[in-house]
Amino acid sequence: MNIRAEKKADIDGIWQVNADAFATTEEAELVNALRDSGVPYISLIYEKNSKLVGHILFTAVELVADTSGLKLMGLAPMAVSPKLQRSGIGTSLIKSGIQQCIDHGYDAIVVLGHPNYYPKFGFVPSVQYAITTEYDVAEDVFMALEIKAGALTGKKGTIKYHPAFGSV
Ligand SMILES: CC(C)(COP(=O)(O)OP(=O)(O)OC[C@H]1O[C@@H](n2cnc3c(N)ncnc32)[C@H](O)[C@@H]1OP(=O)(O)O)[C@@H](O)C(=O)NCCC(=O)NCCS
Repeated sequence: MNIRAEKKADIDGIWQVNADAFATTEEAELVNALRDSGVPYISLIYEKNSKLVGHILFTAVELVADTSGLKLMGLAPMAVSPKLQRSGIGTSLIKSGIQQCIDHGYDAIVVLGHPNYYPKFGFVPSVQYAITTEYDVAEDVFMALEIKAGALTGKKGTIKYHPAFGSV
């Protein structure tokens, strides 16, 4: 299997793959800030020929105004080395990440991202659940995936990410 949980020795490689995939190093710095913040996270890496070429991060988010104790993860960021994009690495990372969230007992995952990419993994626009984001974005780019069937039904509120996301 090419995918595994991050180890301390992966931290530089994770920074690099994010720096390579995004236009600036902001996402790479964000990953470090989130790891240091103490927020619960799931961080997976993809290795090819012993080189770290992909990364996905999930951090715990909160549905503000909801008191039912939902366990929610936000997927962000994810990155694949530019030369290896569009070869299925991102898909493998998302599928493994969703499985990890299931294994850790999360109720649902949210993501702010490409509206053509995430629906193939079951994400739907979060407005279907009366769940919004604090960010001023088009309705179809903020999406949610119920891990536990019905977990978001009837839920209402705004998803809050860790404040470190405010710097990106
Ligand atoms: C988004 C990303 C992680 C996907 O990883 P990947 O390994 O390339 O994805 P896969 O090979 O599993 O899937 C490819 C599909 O992703 C979608 N996709 C990939 N890059 C995309 C982009 N820049 N814009 C829109 N869709 C994109 C397409 O639907 C593509 O399918 P196609 O090749 O049939 O058109 C990767 O392209 C990347 O690192 N991009 C730069 C950083 C980024 O935007 N991260 C996501 C936001 S946090």
